[in-house]
Amino acid sequence: MRLIIYTGKGGTGKTVTACATAIKLAESNHKTLLISSDPAHTLSDALTYEIGYETRDIMHNLKAIEIDPIFELTTKYIDLLSYTTNYLFGKGIDSHIAYEIAMMPGMTQLFSLLKIDEEVRKKDFDAIILDMPPSGEALKFLYFPKIVGSLGKNYLNLSNFFGGIAKVFQPFAGYYKSLDSFISHGDILRRLENLFNIITDQSITSLRLVTNVDTFSVKNAKRALMSANLFGINVDLVIINKININNHEAKKDVERIETNFFPLPCKRAKLNSREVRGIDMLKKHGEEIFSIQDPSTIFFKENIYSIEENNNSISIKFKIPFVKDADIQTTKINDEVLIQIKHSIGYIANSVSLPLAAINMKLVSTRLLNNILEIVLKR
Ligand SMILES: Nc1ncnc2c1ncn2[C@@H]1O[C@H](COP(=O)(O)OP(=O)(O)OP(=O)(O)O)[C@@H](O)[C@H]1O
Ligand SMILES: [Mg+2]
Repeated sequence: MRLIIYTGKGGTGKTVTACATAIKLAESNHKTLLISSDPAHTLSDALTYEIGYETRDIMHNLKAIEIDPIFELTTKYIDLLSYTTNYLFGKGIDSHIAYEIAMMPGMTQLFSLLKIDEEVRKKDFDAIILDMPPSGEALKFLYFPKIVGSLGKNYLNLSNFFGGIAKVFQPFAGYYKSLDSFISHGDILRRLENLFNIITDQSITSLRLVTNVDTFSVKNAKRALMSANLFGINVDLVIINKININNHEAKKDVERIETNFFPLPCKRAKLNSREVRGIDMLKKHGEEIFSIQDPSTIFFKENIYSIEENNNSISIKFKIPFVKDADIQTTKINDEVLIQIKHSIGYIANSVSLPLAAINMKLVSTRLLNNILEIVLKR
């Protein structure tokens, strides 16, 4: 099973690239599911097919779904819904309140994750392609399971943990206030944690970054790479899309971007004179990017995280690119290290589980050298 996730700045071509990938996979005989977590329902536009909130056939070997939070919430999560409405509004479910909750930011992302979990369990597909919405924050929802998982464990250190990331997960603030009850909805928690294990399994999941040649979308892609590495998610490809082949400068820009991301492989796609819409054009887009290669290939795999245990010390290393000017803070909380990186282009935080031996150790140093963040703990 492969899970391939496309992310990138708004308008760079995530949706068309996700569709093109899915079509090419289906044609290479992989049973493929294309999931969109974009509330704007852009899959239908790209495929020129009306796709609904239930899985539907697009072509042989290819099904697609646009996650609709209201449908998911009201059909599958009645318990959670009733708990949440009671908690937030002090009354039971009515359709108006259900709608309000389903429309909270991040809900489509949450339900997309749960949908992926559902499909992974069913094992009906060889490949699941996820098209993410444009928001720069979207990727954070991939980390959400991990963060909720840590919360469950570090119950006593909540305020500490929340210091920085509360804002990011504001949509869920209502839940957190009554964490006890939320955690008792353990099924969702367990499913999300399980999903996070899948997302960080390099042999299953690849995150792919879609960028154009402009500085902003490249910056966005770099940020995504940096934070994916910190969370142990494998990025296997950068797709540089909308290259204006008639522009000499653009060619130079592409080469510069490729050097920037080295050793991560980059694929190119040129700017078409028309929008990329419909199966035929999407097919061409896929051919241009992958040529004769199977899009389910893991194009790049690297050990981005390592942990070394000696008698009296533990050293954890992360490969984190693009953090030269970052402000890094590390805190040890019981059997985890909380890493917070404040960066000119954003803010990320992760907690890393430590081996048991680390419980009686102290965090003695944190340093960044040649893109490697090293954290040392000693007895
Ligand atoms: N190589 C290309 N040449 C010409 N047009 C393109 C190309 N790639 C994408 N487009 C067009 O650019 C627009 C944005 O593409 P797409 O919807 O795939 O981007 P996106 O990153 O998913 O956007 P959003 O962030 O809004 O979800 C669409 O109209 C699409 O047809
Ligand atoms: Mg899109």
